[in-house]
Amino acid sequence: MNPLEHLTMEHKLIKRAVKAITKRRNQLKENEELSEDIFWGIIDFMSTYGDIVHHVKEERILFRFLERLRVSPEIAQTIRELVDDHTELLTYVAGLRRAAKDYLAGVPAARQRVINYLTAYVQLMEPHVKSEDTELFPAIRQLLDAAAMKHLAKEFKAFDAKMMPKVHETYESLARKLEK
Ligand SMILES: [Fe+2]
Ligand SMILES: [Fe+2]
Repeated sequence: MNPLEHLTMEHKLIKRAVKAITKRRNQLKENEELSEDIFWGIIDFMSTYGDIVHHVKEERILFRFLERLRVSPEIAQTIRELVDDHTELLTYVAGLRRAAKDYLAGVPAARQRVINYLTAYVQLMEPHVKSEDTELFPAIRQLLDAAAMKHLAKEFKAFDAKMMPKVHETYESLARKLEK
């Protein structure tokens, strides 16, 4: 698997989770309750898989590598915007964590805050992933020769292995749980 296919594979799992999170958000909107387990599952997916496994890998390995290649100003600008999105998504996860704690403690106004953070997260994550899949990745594919692909693939694999054994399987089963 080349590094762009590796990230696209992670996007597929993220898109599944985003769909499941949207469904959970709608349940809250309809005044259904969410269990503590589901709340922490959503937050774990966003912060561990979405942020650390995926965004940190993009930023520290792929984007850093592209910086050294001296990409076009357009691509450099796209990368800056994508990194800003990663930062913004993190602020939503932090807000969601606080709101979820309040919700689980029975604070009445916390439900709406949870809904707002979940909405903000999915509304940014969806176009973010789409823009990487359809704009950034096709634009950089031709800049990466076989040696670069091999180097990045190796770095990605090592990053995942250091993160935790079977990280993709672990979060695939969490996504499945959120989809139920
Ligand atoms: Fe990204
Ligand atoms: Fe991504």
